[in-house]
Amino acid sequence: MTSPSRSGVFSKATDRRVDAFTESISFDHRLYSHDIRASIAHARMLTEQGFYSADEFEQVEAALQEIGARIERAISSHDPLPGGDEFPMGIELEDIHMHIERALIDRLGDAGAKLHTGRSRNDQVATDFRLWVRDAIDGIDAQLVTLQRAFAERCDTDAGVVLPAYTHLQRAQPVLAAHYYLAYCEKLQRDRERLADCRRRVNRCTLGCAALAGTTIAIDRDMVARELEFDGVVRNSIDASSDRDFVLETAFVLTLIAEHLSTWAEEWILWATTEFNFIRLPGEFCTGSSIMPQKINPDVLELTRGKTARVIGNLQTLLTLVKGLPLAYNRDLQEDKPALFDTVDTVSACLQLAAPIVSGSELNRTSIAARLDRGHLDATTLMEYLIKRGKPQRHAHHLVGSLVGLAMDRGVRLADLELSDYQELDETITEEVFECLGVEKAIAAFTSYGSTAPREVERQVTHWRERLANEPTSNADEATP
Ligand code: ARG
Repeated sequence: MTSPSRSGVFSKATDRRVDAFTESISFDHRLYSHDIRASIAHARMLTEQGFYSADEFEQVEAALQEIGARIERAISSHDPLPGGDEFPMGIELEDIHMHIERALIDRLGDAGAKLHTGRSRNDQVATDFRLWVRDAIDGIDAQLVTLQRAFAERCDTDAGVVLPAYTHLQRAQPVLAAHYYLAYCEKLQRDRERLADCRRRVNRCTLGCAALAGTTIAIDRDMVARELEFDGVVRNSIDASSDRDFVLETAFVLTLIAEHLSTWAEEWILWATTEFNFIRLPGEFCTGSSIMPQKINPDVLELTRGKTARVIGNLQTLLTLVKGLPLAYNRDLQEDKPALFDTVDTVSACLQLAAPIVSGSELNRTSIAARLDRGHLDATTLMEYLIKRGKPQRHAHHLVGSLVGLAMDRGVRLADLELSDYQELDETITEEVFECLGVEKAIAAFTSYGSTAPREVERQVTHWRERLANEPTSNADEATP
């Protein structure tokens, strides 16, 4: 196979080791359907502009579609380098763009050899990748909705259940389980907003920017952009061929998603320990030990946490890759794809398992309830009770601290102290104080917006129920091909 990009300027073929070192076909074959789609749009525009006859265009379109179908079959058969006999791929042709063009030329001769009119691989790669990233964003977004639904549905499953909430991983205050689940809905919603915002900048067409300066050929960039459902074109051709902001932004947003999943995974790993005993993870999402028969290990959660490391690493790779690159296209940019592919694959795989684990787990309600009295979760409510009765916050804080000390010495709850214990520290305290003590009463005493107050949580649950009911349901399990 001779490369369409090797012109008469060369008298010898490239050294084989250079082919092996510079190839990208081993990973960018994943762009094939986007390359076919963009090439058809480009050819349609060339036809409008008089470079192709209607007849030629039909041949080019049909041939490109047939090449696409062959590549699809080849990829599903998966040789070390996908291809096999169906659509042989090799490093003599650097990338997927050249493979498709070569196949078109082999098939159609001159009509194929015209396709690259007014286009360069620099704008082509950028457009194909933008199309791919757009699909990836849509796929991840659908997976985020599925996970939000799983958290929101747990609010009904565990309605009324009270959990101890932590700061510094020390017992802090009581919260409703629903309040806890909705915290994740909020985090994932911000991830979705970031994805949507990032998508606006991804969704711009670079085709027609050619190598970097544009082209002297009479092309219609807007038409190509419309055909490919972009929101418009990238304005500056030098910017277009050098810009990888869209890749970095996407990688960052996906890294935050991975961080959120990692936090959740860490929490539920702890919750599933005998020491916490808060949750039973679904057995089909756990693994066993090769030596200890009793083990039920949360490997999926551990790997969700662990794989976050490589997602962070990919972001670091991308940031370092573009640092100090002069404008415009430099071959370094080819390295953007393995990093983002891996990030999308990894985050998508984590999301795929997160939703069924959230839905399939069971809270160990009895064990949670039996220990809610530990840790003086009602201490802050007691302090606020005293503030509401006119005590300055610092004094109330100090006084409750002394009462907690006393309760700890006696090994009892704040609610088990005598009224006289309270009055010894402040003689104005009455029997009424017992109305804010104990976890249930402490929960009921909350009032502020966004708090764990039962009515407030109910309002939030309704909000999420309605919001998620309006989101389209998707069966998509994975983000991209
Ligand atoms: N395989 C290259 C990439 O993915 C294609 C762009 C080549 N452009 C060039 N001027 N060599 O970035």
